[in-house]
Amino acid sequence: MNNIKHTLNIVLLLTLSAAIYPAIKAFRSHEKKIKRNGSLADLIGNTPLLRIKSLSEATGCEIYAKMELCNPGGSAKDRIALAIIEDFEKKGMIRRGKGDIIFEGTSGSTGISFAMLCKAFGYTAHICLPNDTSQDKLNLLKMYGAEIEKVKPASIVDPDQYVNAAKKGAKDIASSSSDINAVFADQFENDCNWKIHYSTTAPEIWEQVNHKLDYFITGSGTGGTLAGCSMFFKEKSSSIKSVLADPQGSGLFNRVKFGIMYDQVEREGTRRRHQVDTLVEGIGLNRITHNFAKGEPFIDDAERVLDEEALKMARYLNENEGLFLGSSSCVNAVAATRIALTKANKGDTIVFVACDSGTRHVSKFWKHALDYDYTSDLREVVNCK
Ligand SMILES: Cc1ncc(COP(=O)(O)O)c(C=O)c1O
Repeated sequence: MNNIKHTLNIVLLLTLSAAIYPAIKAFRSHEKKIKRNGSLADLIGNTPLLRIKSLSEATGCEIYAKMELCNPGGSAKDRIALAIIEDFEKKGMIRRGKGDIIFEGTSGSTGISFAMLCKAFGYTAHICLPNDTSQDKLNLLKMYGAEIEKVKPASIVDPDQYVNAAKKGAKDIASSSSDINAVFADQFENDCNWKIHYSTTAPEIWEQVNHKLDYFITGSGTGGTLAGCSMFFKEKSSSIKSVLADPQGSGLFNRVKFGIMYDQVEREGTRRRHQVDTLVEGIGLNRITHNFAKGEPFIDDAERVLDEEALKMARYLNENEGLFLGSSSCVNAVAATRIALTKANKGDTIVFVACDSGTRHVSKFWKHALDYDYTSDLREVVNCK
């Protein structure tokens, strides 16, 4: 009798478990969807991959944007700022909550990412930048509480250039008797930069495209995104092509295509005040950084993109997709579309990086974009008649 009772109990238990299990599973998956995060840093990375319907349908390729603008600080630079801070902490060079200072020379998004994370972790961000940096970015830095040091625009060989000014600032504090520690983040030369894209951005994309990728396209500022992702994808398959999207005035296009660093604006007597003569911010350079050099062996091709093409693409994506993208993202979108129309096979998967949003480019790039009438002919937008 006892045996029968015992068996019945077990059957009852099993039946109950079978009934409850789907409910527990459903609850867990719901919980996953409404995941809570304990720190701002937890929100960095795992950005969405957005299919760009209008570009895909018009080209016959599957074109996606890696939405790095969805990071909490609004750009891919959150990833590298966090990686650099954690590296300094691991080496015991800075301590949270002690007022230690992180110096960086940047006129772009990296300063905003450092400023955000410094506030979250109890550091001070000291950002050196050219004195003609757009008011949009200065305001953001101020609101995140960064110390701002403006210097006159100068070439990298000038000791007062903003990257050199940041390096010097950190060195001066480090060699003083102050209790405060200071470090120079050095995004252009720091290995943490390409490594974080190798270990997070690229693997995320790889999973998001279900391991089917034909082209990866992005511009190069420090070169970290291009280097880390190109290296990762080449290890996955040698047939995945990495393409540099380069704005007018940058020497990197010629470096990739012909092995020489040269642009028209380098001609004797024509050198401008700014090394890269474009409305586009964040990408294009006339020197080889350590991060770019790391990725150079894995870059297959380059597309040069004119400001006019990027501006027309800004309007196209806004009109067709509701996207309001920053200037470098529009350069990448032009290169992706041109590759799709001229070099890719129908059905190929193409991913480009959407680095930041148009909100950081209102007073410069987008002011000019509004001067262009919307063009529905995509071939005209990317100059592929
Ligand atoms: C808006 C924007 N897009 C693209 C880039 C280029 O990224 P990377 O430095 O990884 O080459 C930068 C870099 O400063 C940037 O600020």
